[in-house]
Amino acid sequence: MPFVNSEYETKRMEIRTLTDPLTGSNCYIVEENGQVLLIDPNLPEEVIQILKRESLTLSMVILTHEHCDHISGLNRIRAWNRTQTQVIASRRCSENIQSAKMNLSRIFGVYLFYVTGERCRDYPAYTCEGATRIFDEELEMDWNHHEIHCYHIPGHSEGSIAVTIDQKIIFSGDSYLRDQEVITKFPGGSQEDYEQKAKTFFEALPDDCWICPGHGEIFWKGGESVIARKAFAVIPVKEISGNASGKTEYHKPSGNVS
Ligand SMILES: [Fe+2]
Repeated sequence: MPFVNSEYETKRMEIRTLTDPLTGSNCYIVEENGQVLLIDPNLPEEVIQILKRESLTLSMVILTHEHCDHISGLNRIRAWNRTQTQVIASRRCSENIQSAKMNLSRIFGVYLFYVTGERCRDYPAYTCEGATRIFDEELEMDWNHHEIHCYHIPGHSEGSIAVTIDQKIIFSGDSYLRDQEVITKFPGGSQEDYEQKAKTFFEALPDDCWICPGHGEIFWKGGESVIARKAFAVIPVKEISGNASGKTEYHKPSGNVS
């Protein structure tokens, strides 16, 4: 069975998913030994609350891509943790989060209106400062004795990346979703890049790795839901819906661009 090996059995990694009720975008809190890797920061008040309550240290933030529904909490997290927040992104992602056009926030209200049929036209245009650690094609890091790799896989957007932990847990952003076609028509998207880079990357992965997508449940690349397979017996996976209590509002980033 995948992941049942001595290394994983002795570690206590937890992956928590916070899903923004407005956009359906996932933020992942990966925690082990009190250290947190935050992937795609949204719902920042909930993230901060969890970090404070459990006395966790934010090691770094990684952005899977530049789209506003995946970075909506970045400014707030940075303001809260100003001196310590290392933000990792591809060079194009880092450039594009500084543009309300390229991070899509300028048009996101219209997009949500089109997709949901609800009135969300007041979504604010906003930008973020660039990342603090930038790479072009690939970045390798050690985190808590785990191998973290970031791979630039453009297609959905110019700055899209895949993030892997020990080549077994894959954060795919919007470049690989369960039973959903990847959108390549946003500004900076490219079907050609997607076919050559992103699609090729994911097709080469073995079936027994976990995919933690930008939208939807964590699943095995082979197709099965992680929760259905009770895989969290080895690595606990906690799911937190952004509005599970019925009290949490979606986080609307504060606009800083007119
Ligand atoms: Fe996206």
